[in-house]
Amino acid sequence: MTNNRHYLNLLMFASLLAILSSCSYDFIEYPVVIPPDPNDTVYFAEKIAPIFTANDNCTSCHKDGGAASPDFSTGKAYSSIVPNLINEADPESSLIYWHAHPSSDAHTWKKLTTNEADLILLWIQQGALNN
Ligand code: HEC
Repeated sequence: MTNNRHYLNLLMFASLLAILSSCSYDFIEYPVVIPPDPNDTVYFAEKIAPIFTANDNCTSCHKDGGAASPDFSTGKAYSSIVPNLINEADPESSLIYWHAHPSSDAHTWKKLTTNEADLILLWIQQGALNN
C-alpha cells in the first residue's frame, strides 16, 4: 500500500515535470529565411521588410503607437532604418544589424535569427537600397 503510494507520488512528480518543461517550447512559426548567397541582390521590399512584419515579429512593438520606436511597419520601415540605423562605413556596427543580433545583449526583447541578421548585413553591404 505504502509502496503504491510512493509510485503514485513519483508518477505525479514526473508528469508535473513533463508539463512544466513542455511550457518552454515555442510553437510560433517564423518565416524561414534562406541563408543569403552573396551573389544575389537582397531586395528590401521582398526580403528585409517582411522580417519585421511577418507574424508581427518586430512590429508587435515597433509600430506607430506601439511600445517601441522606430516604426518598422510596412511603408515606414525603410525611412526608419535609413540612414538612422545604418553605418555604411562599418556595416557590422549598424544598429539594425547589431542591436537585435542573436549574439548581442543590447536588445533584451526579441532577437533576429542568424539568417535574418546575415541577410540584413548583406543588404547593408549592397548599399541599403530601397529596392
Ligand atoms: C516586446 C517589444 C519589442 C519587440 C517584439 C521588438 N523590440 Fe526592438 N526594441 C524594443 C524596445 C523597448 C526598444 C528600446 C530599448 C532597447 O534598445 O532595448 C527597442 C529597440 C530596438 C532597436 C534600437 C533602435 C534605436 O533607435 O536605438 C532596434 C534596432 C530594434 N529594437 C530592433 C528590433 C527588431 C529587429 C525586432 C524584431 C526581431 C524587435 N526590435 C522586436 C522593444 C521590442
